[in-house]
Amino acid sequence: MASGSGSNFEAIAAAIRSGELNASIELVIYNNPKAKVAERAARLGIPAQLMDHRTFDSREALDTAIAAQFKTHKVNWIIMAGWMRRVTQTLLSAFPRRILNIHPSLLPSFPGIHSVEQALNAGVKITGCSVHFVELIVDSGPIVMQAAVPILPDDSVESLQARIQMQEHIIFPRAIALAASQTASATANEISS
Ligand code: GRF
Repeated sequence: MASGSGSNFEAIAAAIRSGELNASIELVIYNNPKAKVAERAARLGIPAQLMDHRTFDSREALDTAIAAQFKTHKVNWIIMAGWMRRVTQTLLSAFPRRILNIHPSLLPSFPGIHSVEQALNAGVKITGCSVHFVELIVDSGPIVMQAAVPILPDDSVESLQARIQMQEHIIFPRAIALAASQTASATANEISS
């Protein structure tokens, strides 16, 4: 699921192509008609579907439709790669502990939007990015993987954001693989006990 440029989506697709991540992307859902992710998906031959939140009566109605689409495509994991909408219990219940998000800070510091700017303004010397399981509270949920990014004295929001994104592209595919393998072994343990 993506709302914007889709550089993380493309990094995940590249990791799959190179064999680093054993997965397939069945469907990209985007909510903003102008989102560049749609062009990237078309270029890569991956189906993408616009689900414009403005055409739904409520967050729940949007999430019901999203869950139905993913079920139709037999999706196991939902990857929120720059999805800028709050999710509801409707989507969480349809895919329990199967939704991952990436956030441009070292959570639990600087949740929400403007995290890069907030880290810069706070004067912290290290920030980064986090991949975590999605829960109802925005940018909460168990952390799967993080990467640290030092803040340089002459950093702007743009320069810092660019270096954080480089790390996002590295850790997101790895975090997906890790979360999937941990979930698979937890399930195997449950079955055998
Ligand atoms: C990423 O920086 C991510 O941390 C945030 O949204 C941004 C999405 O970028 N949640 P892109 O669309 O993957 O380029």
